[in-house]
Amino acid sequence: MNATDPIHPTPTPSSIHTEQSHIHSDLRKIVARHAQYPFKKPYAEHNRQAFALMMDAWAQRGFPPLILDSGCGVGESTLHIAHAHPDCFVVGVDQSQVRLQTQKTWWHASIPDNLLWLRADVVDFWRLLAAQLTEHKQSLHKHYVLYPNPYPKIGQLHKRWHGHAVFPNLLALGGTLEVRSNWHIYVEEFTQAVTQLTHQTPEFCGLLTNLEPITSFERKYQARGEKLWGVRFVLHGSAHGHI
Ligand SMILES: C[S@@+](CC[C@H](N)C(=O)[O-])C[C@H]1O[C@@H](n2cnc3c(N)ncnc32)[C@H](O)[C@@H]1O
Repeated sequence: MNATDPIHPTPTPSSIHTEQSHIHSDLRKIVARHAQYPFKKPYAEHNRQAFALMMDAWAQRGFPPLILDSGCGVGESTLHIAHAHPDCFVVGVDQSQVRLQTQKTWWHASIPDNLLWLRADVVDFWRLLAAQLTEHKQSLHKHYVLYPNPYPKIGQLHKRWHGHAVFPNLLALGGTLEVRSNWHIYVEEFTQAVTQLTHQTPEFCGLLTNLEPITSFERKYQARGEKLWGVRFVLHGSAHGHI
């Protein structure tokens, strides 16, 4: 993303089928509620174990700057990010073991050793990591949330990350946060929700052009001629220093 185009959607092919034409009218209220009441769902044991595994792997490397690729799917973006950031430790997290284990036959270089793929639910993983980073007054270096499930039905707002109770924890991870979607309303809502809780404006928000695809969904949407949207915030958490 290297321009600051405003979002001006025009009719183009889209795989998003929705009745929703604007930012959801309940979004502000829901975001405020989630900021007020901490999300206390118990952690699943397998997510705790995945988190412990990540902490061990990060420690073994001497705690370099940490990059998270949340909902990484088959892990293609994790490979590109790790390759582009050899001084960072890059963790790709997805809840689907099948996707993570997909043979990377399309990747023709060697697998970078600064990378870890982890099966976990980010709802737990983000909370565990946010607690860890906050305790040490640290933050992520970068955080990618690329093509999250859009949940475009009007009644599914609570399933979108900005409408989910875990959202304040996602923000507490800090760092440069980048979200991409083929649904402009997802990006507009996400932007509004981040600004509501952090009072920050995005470094970039708009149409993604001249994009070299780094994920399988990105490639698929581009091949169909769909427009792709992104937003990037450089989150300055009050107590956070970059690691
Ligand atoms: C639409 S796919 C996009 C995958 C990849 N980022 C890409 O662009 O190709 C969304 C991914 O998010 C993962 N996902 C959804 N909810 C999740 C959760 N709570 N924890 C971890 N992964 C999740 C899904 O398994 C899926 O792989």
